[in-house]
Amino acid sequence: MEVSWLVLAAIFIAAHAQNNRNDGPRFLSRGHSFRTVVGDTLLLPCQVQNLGSLVLLWRRGPAVLTAASLMVTRDERFRLVDGYNLQITDVGPQRGHSGRYACTVDNGVGAPLVAEFQLQVLYPPEITVERSWVHTGEGFRAELLCTVLADPPAEVTWYQNSFPLSASERVTMSARGNNHTLLIANVQPEDFGNYSCVADNSLGRARQHVEVSGRPGPARFTSAPLARSHTRYVLAFAVDSYPPLDELRLLYRQLAINESFQQPGRWHDVVIPAPAPAGSLTHRVTHELRGLEPGAVYESIVQAKNRYGWNEVSDIFQFHTLGGTHTAHADELTPMFSSSTRKQLTKSIILALYTFLTYFI
Ligand SMILES: *[C@@H]1O[C@H](CO)[C@@H](O)[C@H](O)[C@H]1NC(C)=O
Ligand SMILES: *[C@@H]1O[C@H](CO)[C@@H](O)[C@H](O)[C@H]1NC(C)=O
Ligand SMILES: *[C@@H]1O[C@H](CO)[C@@H](O)[C@H](O)[C@H]1NC(C)=O
Repeated sequence: MEVSWLVLAAIFIAAHAQNNRNDGPRFLSRGHSFRTVVGDTLLLPCQVQNLGSLVLLWRRGPAVLTAASLMVTRDERFRLVDGYNLQITDVGPQRGHSGRYACTVDNGVGAPLVAEFQLQVLYPPEITVERSWVHTGEGFRAELLCTVLADPPAEVTWYQNSFPLSASERVTMSARGNNHTLLIANVQPEDFGNYSCVADNSLGRARQHVEVSGRPGPARFTSAPLARSHTRYVLAFAVDSYPPLDELRLLYRQLAINESFQQPGRWHDVVIPAPAPAGSLTHRVTHELRGLEPGAVYESIVQAKNRYGWNEVSDIFQFHTLGGTHTAHADELTPMFSSSTRKQLTKSIILALYTFLTYFI
């Protein structure tokens, strides 16, 4: 007996739900797949009947864009028009607006109503190069990488000094996902030069340059910015070069002579003897500077030469001697750091703090 009561109850609940459903919301429009071009304006239709007090949501993937007439997304290119139609103005490429959209109503009984949309935004190629300058040497290899985003997928071609390149025993082109690689094995003198990758699709073309050079890479400073002494500093840096280094040049000058004389000092030009051949790509060089002012901030740059020529000058590096009575404060020094990046500024602020502490403690 109990079982038949349960069955009856189940039938009653199901019929009730079905009934609710019939009076419940219904979509008058249907989901679609859209393909559009970057910059276009698009309308995803969602027309609903008998919504009552239920809440209609627009989602993109798992994220909620709108709830009832409320905008949840901060992307101002989304807008609801004439009820619940979703308008997207100036659609963005790839990670911008492409993806799955859904207009959904959940009435709490049974499966929610869902109208699904697939949006594909087509856009012209965009290329990024990880390194626009590749160091190599005769007999070594060079690897050039261009990362290409495009829809429809782009065709990628490589050029050397504006001549199209084709594959050979030493030259291979390959693609993995968005990564397009040019590999030159056993580099010969004629391989040095200006390369470019060019990506084409029906919407446009992009080009990026990569220089393949035998000249040394830019020097990277490796010494700690704070000297161990009042008047001496051991500058250390590393330079990448396959051939031996022939010559090194160091320029340094004092920043802010003292609190009342806020001009940088004159540049000192030092020729550093070439280090013994490293037998590897990276050459490590140390050079001691003497006769420095105590408690002073210096800046330096380094340049290196091998048989292919001089490299680009290094970034500016700042260091600091111990002690001194004229302690520079960060905000006094700041205006002079014309060429400094934020990182360098932070460094000098830390330095100034350090000086402050060593002076007063
Ligand atoms: C593409 O290159 C980038 C940078 O080198 C790397 O992080 C990524 O894993 C590469 N992707 C593929 C599919 O090889
Ligand atoms: C490579 O070629 C392009 C275009 O001709 C030019 O803009 C760029 O400066 C060149 N780069 C080098 C390092 O010569
Ligand atoms: C600051 O340096 C200048 C130039 O060397 C010098 O003439 C001046 O006397 C110095 N001032 C102080 C307070 O040491």
